[in-house]
Amino acid sequence: MVDAARIMARCEALARHSELAGGLTRVFLSTQSHAAAGEVLGWMEAAGMRARLDAIGNVHGRYESASPGAPCLVLGSHLDTVRDAGRYDGILGVVSAIECVHSLSARGVRLPFAVEVIGFGDEEGVRFGTTLLGSRAVAGLLEPAVLETRDASGVSIAEGLRAWRLDPRDVPSVKKEKGSALAYVELHIEQGPVLEAEGLPLGVVTAINGFSRLRATLTGTAGHAGTVPMRLRRDALAAAAECVLAVERVAKSDPELVGTVGRIEAHPGAINVIPGSVVFTIDFRAPRDELREDAVRKVTGEIEALCSRRNVEATVQPLQSMGVTRCAEWLMGQLDAAVAAQGVPVRRLPSGAGHDGMALQALCDIGMLFVRCRGGVSHNPAEAISEADAGAGARALLHFIEHFVPRGGA
Ligand code: GLV
Ligand code: MN
Ligand code: MN
Repeated sequence: MVDAARIMARCEALARHSELAGGLTRVFLSTQSHAAAGEVLGWMEAAGMRARLDAIGNVHGRYESASPGAPCLVLGSHLDTVRDAGRYDGILGVVSAIECVHSLSARGVRLPFAVEVIGFGDEEGVRFGTTLLGSRAVAGLLEPAVLETRDASGVSIAEGLRAWRLDPRDVPSVKKEKGSALAYVELHIEQGPVLEAEGLPLGVVTAINGFSRLRATLTGTAGHAGTVPMRLRRDALAAAAECVLAVERVAKSDPELVGTVGRIEAHPGAINVIPGSVVFTIDFRAPRDELREDAVRKVTGEIEALCSRRNVEATVQPLQSMGVTRCAEWLMGQLDAAVAAQGVPVRRLPSGAGHDGMALQALCDIGMLFVRCRGGVSHNPAEAISEADAGAGARALLHFIEHFVPRGGA
């Protein structure tokens, strides 16, 4: 009923749209993302959907209901990747959802609701630093000012859209009306080790941890590496090194908290020049909002204090944050049943990674199905899943779709 080999082959095929030679990097609004979107549009059409690119660069496919125009069940995930990524994070959810629709259309099954599959253009937020751009637009959470955000080479989101021949003024039209979506359900690799450790191919997600993204800018004085005595230096990178350790210390203060400095740039960046300025990112996640917010306050205070001791200026700027997102109990129940129907014991677990559902919850209730990944590894080219697990995930998703009862339905 679902073709697991085709799911795997399509994940491979999308991995070929990459700006990184010999690896996979596909960021929002790149030429490689455009090519990937084109390929996905073709798969959607072949699966019996009406397919289109929306004004923010998401790919949409709609499989009409038995009564045309009826509200829809929304499925999907994202098509962008981190740098030097694996090939399943996000992609598997889009490809599996298309496979499920393919199965429905091949059997001529029409449901009392439409099924829409969305391949979101940006979930990772790698290029512009702000994340969930595709799903925020669908949920109506994208302020027009965000389109002026620029990437590292100074290109704005609006300019990136124009390069795709999209009109930034049309972005508000991407918003779905409340009531038009019955639920959003996403299949995704677990990105953690729990399912593998317990010998389970599938899990039902209970909630998605909240996140805070920050950018710190430290300003000292650039100078000659040979002539300026150590006691007279205002070395921004030496200060940043202490800041990175402060992030780690704060993150380690609670087992539920994680904190990462994932990107750091020192300027001017030469072997014989004292670094005059440094910019680095901070990412905190936690299953409790107060814990995460407290960590942000604590680390900001520590960075300011230690930089002031070194006579280095520090600015910590919040980039984006989102609170814990709970999956709807009624959807978890139906996903439990879909997992059990595969002969798999039901395991519920939270998600440490962020997902498009964090934005979509502003539109409708959300649910998620996790598929085991090898070693819990993700955001890494070694990311891997088995074809058997991909098949189990798609079959569970198909079962869920075919037995889906909207909230309050009979
Ligand atoms: C996306 O994968 C995120 O959790 O940052
Ligand atoms: Mn990811
Ligand atoms: Mn993802």
